[in-house]
Amino acid sequence: MEKFILGIESSCDDTSAAVISNTKILANVTANQDIHREFGGVVPELASRAHQQNIVPVVDAALKKSGISSNQLSAIAFTSGPGLMGSLLVGTSFAKSMAMALNIPLIEVNHMQAHILAHFIENEGMETPPFPFLCLTVSGGHTQIVKVNDHFEYVLLGETIDDAAGEAFDKAAKIMGLPYPGGPLIDKYAQLGDSSKFSFNKPRMDEYNFSFSGLKTSILYYLQKEVKTNPNFVEENLNDLCASIQRTIMEILFDKLEKASADTGIKHIAIAGGVSANSALRKGLKERENILGWKPYIPSFEFCTDNGAMIAVSGYFKFLKQNFSEIDVLAQARKKL
Ligand code: KG4
Ligand code: ZN
Repeated sequence: MEKFILGIESSCDDTSAAVISNTKILANVTANQDIHREFGGVVPELASRAHQQNIVPVVDAALKKSGISSNQLSAIAFTSGPGLMGSLLVGTSFAKSMAMALNIPLIEVNHMQAHILAHFIENEGMETPPFPFLCLTVSGGHTQIVKVNDHFEYVLLGETIDDAAGEAFDKAAKIMGLPYPGGPLIDKYAQLGDSSKFSFNKPRMDEYNFSFSGLKTSILYYLQKEVKTNPNFVEENLNDLCASIQRTIMEILFDKLEKASADTGIKHIAIAGGVSANSALRKGLKERENILGWKPYIPSFEFCTDNGAMIAVSGYFKFLKQNFSEIDVLAQARKKL
């Protein structure tokens, strides 16, 4: 039976709503918040205010685009965490009110699970990974290697003990005077640069865990030293700096991912989260298809960064299990995987 699910995402700085028919996207509408650019990072209070302004027009646009009227919806799925509390509350309260008004089930979705389940969105030319597979989830808030045994059965093999990979990109960009979010800009400039020009410290971490805060400090100290003798050092070397920083982040990520694959014997490897839009990560994964016999699963760009579609598809799989939420369900800033 065809199920129409509305998915609402508001955990950070994107307000997004999607309508799906089973796992097929009918509409996926996102409002990005430019307001944070000038502050060099997401300002939580400004994010929740912007969500409040965006949520009604975004949901309305998604419904109109899908051609589905609200009384045809089977359920409403929303992100309950992890994320910024003020941001999560906007989506949570909106989803609760709408589900109550329509008298349909409410489904809470874990944002990190949703990034992984984005691989199950029906998408032309895209294959769905078979269980078990490994997923490297890399976003602005998280960096995890997860063994995915089933849609809702996860083993967290490793994660970052400090900054996330996206944060490493964004903080490095900020040090170089680039606006937020710096990840996509580093990716862009890196394509014109020499990645072997500069070298930065890499952490020694146990098992499958990551650490990125040392890299940020290493970049900061190096640039402070160089700028003393040449104030234009960053501008003159921007492409090479971006390429070298990106290479270092990729080496840290692939080192652990390769270890996890070798130890578990799993060669079906997926990437998810905002940083999975990175061209070097996508290219590196594809290269390992020949070198290591990996089968890579790479989401299309639209489903890498935060989006309502991944929430809706997660809601669909929960709907199949009749795994509904009570109306008093709470948003949780620190929700575990
Ligand atoms: O998943 P996401 O949209 O939001 C969170 O849940 O955090 O991820 C956003 C992160 C930001 O840190 C952004 O800089 C990074 O993803 N990002 C990239 C690229 N596109 C987005 N980092 C590197 N290269 C990219 N092309
Ligand atoms: Zn995310």
